[in-house]
Amino acid sequence: MDFSGKVALVTGGGNGIGRAACVAFAKQGAKVVAVDRDGAAAEATAGIIRQSGGDATAVTADVTKSADVKAYVKAAIDKYGRIDCFFNNAGIEGKVSPIAEYDEAVFDAVIGVNVKGVFLGLRHVLPEMIRQGGGAIVNTASVAGLVGTPGMPAYVASKHAVIGLTKTAAGEVARQGIRVNAVCPGPVDTRMIHSLEAQLSPGDPAAVNQRYQASLPTGRYSTVEEIANMVLFLCSDLASNTTGGQFVVDGGRTSTGGAVTSLASR
Ligand SMILES: NC(=O)c1ccc[n+]([C@@H]2O[C@H](COP(=O)([O-])OP(=O)(O)OC[C@H]3O[C@@H](n4cnc5c(N)ncnc54)[C@H](O)[C@@H]3O)[C@@H](O)[C@H]2O)c1
Repeated sequence: MDFSGKVALVTGGGNGIGRAACVAFAKQGAKVVAVDRDGAAAEATAGIIRQSGGDATAVTADVTKSADVKAYVKAAIDKYGRIDCFFNNAGIEGKVSPIAEYDEAVFDAVIGVNVKGVFLGLRHVLPEMIRQGGGAIVNTASVAGLVGTPGMPAYVASKHAVIGLTKTAAGEVARQGIRVNAVCPGPVDTRMIHSLEAQLSPGDPAAVNQRYQASLPTGRYSTVEEIANMVLFLCSDLASNTTGGQFVVDGGRTSTGGAVTSLASR
């Protein structure tokens, strides 16, 4: 997977899966644009890459605002001239609460980042890829885009929507040499999963962590690097005829058809 001379744009690049993907792209030779609403975190990611001799730039942007999205696309083009790989990844988890009690403002916030943010990324990156005659996009869905999780209505709805956007975009631009796929992580060891653990059991998040990891067929959460590996594969020429697909990296979680303990089951 050689990305020498290629440009990779990553949203949510300041932390977790996004940062790991930025670092992995850079390790394989890509120039990286790390986008995050947390500008210091994006700068830190770019700093890690530069310290290892790579080329990276950070952009502060909120993916829910079209002006910010236009600005991060422009920043990538101004700095590096093109966007070969786009990891449309920024997302938030919202609250753990049943639909009958779910807060409307939290619902809007989750849909805003996870659906509108992904749409706006596609809306403004695709014209550049069409202009340059090719590219590869990976949207971050989740196993929550494939199966329901009681207690996470906004998140589950948003990630099912990411799969719908992925399939739609893939069909629209396949003949223009652009591939669009979704990665569907199961639980990954990042801030997000620890936030969910703490919401479920504020007094003893470690117990939720242990129970949930034990319920997974492989017995553990994925690492951020394991998700980044799939993202790089999907963006690489090794996946040259792969588009519109959903690629699970979940330690076997969905393979059990829901027989495993749900994170949200109390
Ligand atoms: N961690 C998991 O278990 C898991 C599982 C499945 C899917 N995912 C998905 O992976 C993606 C990355 O999550 P993570 O686990 O690395 O979480 P994280 O919280 O560690 O990182 C998310 C990053 O996105 C940024 N972000 C959030 N809202 C933003 C906005 N409006 N504009 C710009 N940046 C914004 C945050 O500042 C943060 O740096 C998300 O889409 C998430 O839903 C995570």
